[in-house]
Amino acid sequence: MAADIPSFTLNSGYKMPSVGMGVWLGPDGGGEAAKQLCTTALQLGYRHIDTAYGYANEEQVGKAIRESGVPREEIFLTTKLPNHHHHKVSDSLQESLDKLGVQYVDLYLMHWPQAYTEDNKMIPYGESPTYVETWRDMEKLLATGKVRSIGVSNFSVALLEVLLNETTVVPAINQVEMHPCLPSFELKKYCDEKGIVLTAYSPLGRPKEYDGKPVFLEDPDVIRIAQAHNTTAAQVALSWGIQRGTVVIPKSENPKRMMQNITLIKLTTEDMTALDAIHQKPGMHRSLLKFHVVSLDGKILGWTYEQLGWNMKQGGIVIG
Ligand code: A2P
Repeated sequence: MAADIPSFTLNSGYKMPSVGMGVWLGPDGGGEAAKQLCTTALQLGYRHIDTAYGYANEEQVGKAIRESGVPREEIFLTTKLPNHHHHKVSDSLQESLDKLGVQYVDLYLMHWPQAYTEDNKMIPYGESPTYVETWRDMEKLLATGKVRSIGVSNFSVALLEVLLNETTVVPAINQVEMHPCLPSFELKKYCDEKGIVLTAYSPLGRPKEYDGKPVFLEDPDVIRIAQAHNTTAAQVALSWGIQRGTVVIPKSENPKRMMQNITLIKLTTEDMTALDAIHQKPGMHRSLLKFHVVSLDGKILGWTYEQLGWNMKQGGIVIG
């Protein structure tokens, strides 16, 4: 049975469950572990799965869906266009559909605004195919029936402004890193105004990847709120995400934690205010992803923070 969680209506008219299972399992895709994760998730009531061409597990995800017995139309399935396929949007989608073994995806996202060549060399910023050109090709997919909604990922207000000024279809979704250390209020306000729903990736802040970074799941306010509701810190963080109107896609390979992550609570106004302010504590306003640390050239997948429109400095620290 589907879990009892709210859905959001997208600007395309389709409904999207507010909690999805993110299946990024590292560069090799996880193989059988990815299939097992999706199988368990569907058994527990998840009806939203978020994968990507770049996650290297579309085949396993598709297999799990087909073998689950859950009708395809009950599952909201997202996949994403990789950077090195921006020049061949339609072919890349077909490749993903073939791997997934489905006729359509519910949501197709441009994974990043940066384009690479087929052999994975970065195309300099501003050169063709630009993200505007790529988006125009994605717009054409809507008429094929192979995608129900289209969207973007890792887009800032600055990039969305350009996209909205130069193209026709407003993205249904913008999927970005989002959690109490990175609430991105300005982006949220902009997306709300434009009818774009935000999906929060890494909504738990990848708690196993910390290298001395702030662990918001151990923040005293988060723990206090969790105790007051007799729940866990993770459920508080996810419920905050949904209550502020964002979709969350936590990843878990553990059935107990998978279950926790679809068991939401109703936070009070005071709880929401306290959670909204976590990022204001010293050292807390930052990305928690590793790619900021390993990108010693100060660039993210070849673009500077300025080009991305991300208000950050080296290490993913938010400025100001
Ligand atoms: P596990 O797979 O062992 O449950 P994010 O989605 O923010 O990237 O975080 C994913 C990480 O969070 C995974 O390492 C996952 O570990 C862990 N995780 C998922 N759900 C919970 C939870 N309810 N409580 C604590 N950690 C969790």
